[in-house]
Formats: sequence, structure tokens, C-alpha cells
Amino acid sequence: MEPTIIDGKKVAASALNDVRAEIASLSNRGVQPGLAVVLVGDDPASRAYVGSKERTCNDLGMFSLKKELPADTTQEALLGLIDELNDDPRVHGILVQSPPPPQIDEAAVVRALDPAKDVDGFHPANVAKLALEDATGFVPCTPLGCQRLLTAYDIPIEGAHVVVVGRSLIVGKSLGLLLMAKGEAANATVTIAHSRTRDLAAITRSADIVVAAIGRPHFLTETHIREGAVVIDVGINRVEDTSKKKGYRLVGDVDFDAVAPKCQAITPVPGGVGPMTIAMLMMNTVKACRQQTGLDS
Ligand code: GUN
Repeated sequence: MEPTIIDGKKVAASALNDVRAEIASLSNRGVQPGLAVVLVGDDPASRAYVGSKERTCNDLGMFSLKKELPADTTQEALLGLIDELNDDPRVHGILVQSPPPPQIDEAAVVRALDPAKDVDGFHPANVAKLALEDATGFVPCTPLGCQRLLTAYDIPIEGAHVVVVGRSLIVGKSLGLLLMAKGEAANATVTIAHSRTRDLAAITRSADIVVAAIGRPHFLTETHIREGAVVIDVGINRVEDTSKKKGYRLVGDVDFDAVAPKCQAITPVPGGVGPMTIAMLMMNTVKACRQQTGLDS
């Protein structure tokens, strides 16, 4: 079978064009959406992600505030900054890049965010809204990106068996809630599997759609996937590669070369889910801006 390679860059560019138009129309009404991104420490991957979020904001005409704090920042200092950003009217969305250094209690930082500005969708109030199917909340960006990729390629979700491998709040658990909800681009039958799941291959082989979000390079192989399945690979893993200038390359949680020939459609890494996450962050920030300014249409 010749698989469709799902082009995340293309779908993300189209989503960002929609966001750009929304920002222009808000600007005509005297409002500029703003996003604050907080980076604590100097993890190179986190720095790269934060840099690309800032560039995307600037490119769209969004107000962007980058706050870089040293690796030895205290919990108190970080909470002080969150308070400031919660009160800053230029800032409609706040994102604290994860993972923070070990002295930081990340859950406490997330709880300190104003839920109305929590464009990551990690605050308990937003997690509850997702579970309650209350559309005023914020859904985490990566699950939103996966859903949008499926709809962009007309892959039916309603009634489909979706097996999500990985139970993180950021991806697995939230994507499960999103796709099992009642409504459009949802109504799926969802199974959440994880590292302790017994006979994982038997479960993933029963899936119409497999989402890999377990954070282990090439974890899913051809034995896990049935002929004609759709595979969404959320993994971004660095593996050593001395032939590359950087000394590493990025691979997904799926062994793409082994799995792709069996699939109806599959996302590559990079260029699949990754670009969608930033696009959905921008969408969430515009939604936050509309809610906070009362321009909610
Ligand atoms: N680190 C990796 N992905 C994410 C994300 O979606 N949000 C935040 N805040 N940090 C991340």
C-alpha cells in the first residue's frame, strides 16, 4: 500500500493563515493578541522551541514577550513572574516551557497561572473543562494538532477505534478526552495504552488510528500496526547520529520505514505533528484574547 504522508507543515501553514487573518481583524478593532513564553534554564531543545514560538508570534503580528530566567531560579521568583504576567493586560496567553529545572514544582507553577491565560491547557480548571466538554476551556496544543491533522486529511474519527499509546496529560490523556467527546471530529472509541499495557501489539492492531506518544524512539514497529491503519507519531526523540553535524537526528516513536508500507496514512518526524503544536498555541492565544477582551465572535 502506498501510504499518504500527512504533511504537518502544510496543514500548520494553513491554520496559521487563518490565525493571521483573525489577528488582522482584531487589530482593526484596536486589539493585539499577546503571548508570554517563560523559559527557565538553558536546555537546548527547550530554547529552540521557545525561539520558534517567538518567531511565529512576530510573523503573525502577535505581541510576544519572552522571559528567560537562569537555571537556578527559585520557585518564589518564578511564581512572582507568573503573578506579574497574570496581571499584564498585554498578555493574553502564558506558557511556561516544560520541563523546568528540578528545584521547580511544575504543578504548583501551573496552578498559579490564571486559567483564562493558560493557553497550554494544563491548569486543573482547563483539564476539568475538557473532561466536562465545556468549550470555553483550553485544550492542550499537541492533541488539538493531532485532531486537526486527521480532519485536514478527511480521516473519519466518529466511531473509529483510536488507540493512544502514552498517558501523559500533555498528550495521551488529553487526546483521549478530546476524541471521545461528543461532537464533530470526535465520537471515537478510545483506548489509552501505556508502558505497562499487557500485549500492546494485540491492542494497537485493533486500532483504526494509532497515536504514538510514549517518548521512546522507534517503539512501535510493523507488528503493532494492521494493514490500512492511520498512524500519528507525536514522538520527537534525539538519537545519536555521527553522520550529522549536530551529532544527532530526530526520530519518532514509530519505526517509520517499517510501518509506513502498511498504513493508509502516516505522519513523518519531523514535519508531522511538531509544526501543528505551535499553530494550535497561536490559535489558543487568539481565543484567550477574544475571551479577555469580549471580542468573542
Ligand atoms: N514542552 C514540550 N511540549 C510542551 C508544550 O506543549 N507546552 C509546554 N509548556 N512545554 C512543552
